[in-house]
Amino acid sequence: MPVKLAPSILACDFTRLGDEVSAVHEAEYLHVDVMDGMFVPNISFGLPILAATRRAAAPGQIIDVHLMIQQPERYLADFAAAGADSITVHVEATAHLHRAIQMIHGLGCRAGVVLNPGTALETLRPVLQGVDLVLVMSVNPGFGAQQFIPSALERVRTVRGWLDELGSAAELQVDGGVGPGNAQSLVDAGASVLVAGSSVYGADGGAAGLTRLRASLGEA
Ligand code: DX5
Ligand code: ZN
Repeated sequence: MPVKLAPSILACDFTRLGDEVSAVHEAEYLHVDVMDGMFVPNISFGLPILAATRRAAAPGQIIDVHLMIQQPERYLADFAAAGADSITVHVEATAHLHRAIQMIHGLGCRAGVVLNPGTALETLRPVLQGVDLVLVMSVNPGFGAQQFIPSALERVRTVRGWLDELGSAAELQVDGGVGPGNAQSLVDAGASVLVAGSSVYGADGGAAGLTRLRASLGEA
């Protein structure tokens, strides 16, 4: 299976959101990072930007919403209504992870779970069977353009082993500091979706950044 790419619009020029999204129409996913200033020390954007991204996306592109917000249950219905196809919640952000996953499925979306680099992988295991996506953070969430934390590679390998043992078809995503220098090693470790913000929306625009990333995977 070729790896799928998920440009993060957090790194794009918001004065030209429509063009920035159009530039990456060939990517399988569009990654939408929502931050509340509580779960993470930053506020990004919310529902109107998600809705605009949905409108600018190519038909069939998966709108992948990464919720970095406390008690995400409060807003799941709103994000589904605004155009999310897939909603990912942090294991650290809710005391009721199963409930959040059930709610996401009840809204007709794919359900993902994500953990911070310092959170024990074991926290995933009780929900692993029922999710459509697992996201391994390779930076502490909150900001784009941070440095990749190398121990994430081993964490991807471990989760890949668990998913395979279960016979799960869930996607395994990595997010943070991903670029041409480490993309292939993440795929080799078992990642099936690579999130990339600054390495896609670099100095020369999203289309060029996406091409560079694919070239690093021998797929250009
Ligand atoms: C970080 C976000 C990431 C971010 C990645 O909190 O979850 O999705 O946009 O940005 P880069 O690829 O620049 O590290
Ligand atoms: Zn993200």
